[in-house]
Amino acid sequence: MFWPDTISKKLGIQYPVIQAPMFGVSTVQMAAAAAEADCLGSLALADLSADQSVELIREMKKMTDKPFAANIFVHHIPEVTDVLKEKFVKTKHFLEHLAEENNIEVAFPELEMISINGYHEQVDAIIQENCKILSFTFGNLDDQSIQKLKENGVTLIGTCTSVNEALQLEKSGIDIICVQGIEAGGHRGSFEAEHIPQIGGLSLLSQVYDHVNVPLIYAGGIYGARTLQAVKDLGAKGFQVGNLLLASQESALQPFEKERLKKVKEEEIVLTKSFSGRYARGVKNHFIETVENSEYILPYPYQNKLTNVLRKAAKSQQNSDFVGIWVGQSIHPYSELSTEEILKNLIKECER
Ligand SMILES: Cc1cc2nc3c(=O)[nH]c(=O)nc-3n(C[C@H](O)[C@H](O)[C@H](O)COP(=O)(O)O)c2cc1C
Repeated sequence: MFWPDTISKKLGIQYPVIQAPMFGVSTVQMAAAAAEADCLGSLALADLSADQSVELIREMKKMTDKPFAANIFVHHIPEVTDVLKEKFVKTKHFLEHLAEENNIEVAFPELEMISINGYHEQVDAIIQENCKILSFTFGNLDDQSIQKLKENGVTLIGTCTSVNEALQLEKSGIDIICVQGIEAGGHRGSFEAEHIPQIGGLSLLSQVYDHVNVPLIYAGGIYGARTLQAVKDLGAKGFQVGNLLLASQESALQPFEKERLKKVKEEEIVLTKSFSGRYARGVKNHFIETVENSEYILPYPYQNKLTNVLRKAAKSQQNSDFVGIWVGQSIHPYSELSTEEILKNLIKECER
């Protein structure tokens, strides 16, 4: 039998293959298609409001009655100090000039107009909607939320990018840990936004495996049977894929973004905090080159909220120099088949 069954049994799925939550790229359709392939679909709720989260959960439940994971950000929200206010104004001016120079019409929000949601209301919504699996990233849930979720029979999956983070998750009773190697596309799931551990998947997975007893999912760089086999040998009991599904039928990426992915070169795949204030892996472009080493990067989530309007405007112009295209290190042909077919092909390839 090729597949370890620890995680499948815990989550009620057939294959321990997880469609990575990818806020902005994964869709309800993608998560339902993953469930159709008898894998675990993930519903990315990021830092949406409780109402928006409920809406998506209900949509998801209409599409499948199979298990799926809701996924949220459990980030720390920095206090709005005078220093932050001043930096916000400067960053906004800088971005306004940059947009104007590049013929992108965009109205950036004032700081007061930005609404930021914590995760506590989402936790209540997840319980109220009777979701049974919750995965999270950017930190750990607080003890009260963990207790509440457990009392309601929710299985918890936390993300780590270091042994230290894994130990904290295990200590607080998290059921499964998703080990995210530095290869992974998208945001680093690190607890800290500034000084992040940058550990490669090979070192990280084997070390976490040696230090904790909870079952591990591995995420970062899996794009076929050999990479999956390698992390299985290192102790992973579940296998999370994001990059592999970026161009799938159900991906929210637009055709010009999928085309850009197909042309990506190794040296263009970089870690950047220019878009959101948190490190994420994506395709280098003019925006990243201009902003990355500048003083115009606000702490997450303020940078994210501020650049969001610019990215939206750039998207509508099909301007790949100003959109954030998150991508992992494993370059591959970026199949445009359905998520169900891509996952089934991966499973078949592994079983061969
Ligand atoms: C476009 C994109 C968006 C992502 N958004 C999220 C997210 O909302 N929540 C999360 O836990 N992880 C997110 N991630 C990280 C993935 O869950 C996962 O760690 C990563 O895709 C695995 O590496 P791979 O891309 O090499 O397969 C995102 C990744 C990508 C590529």
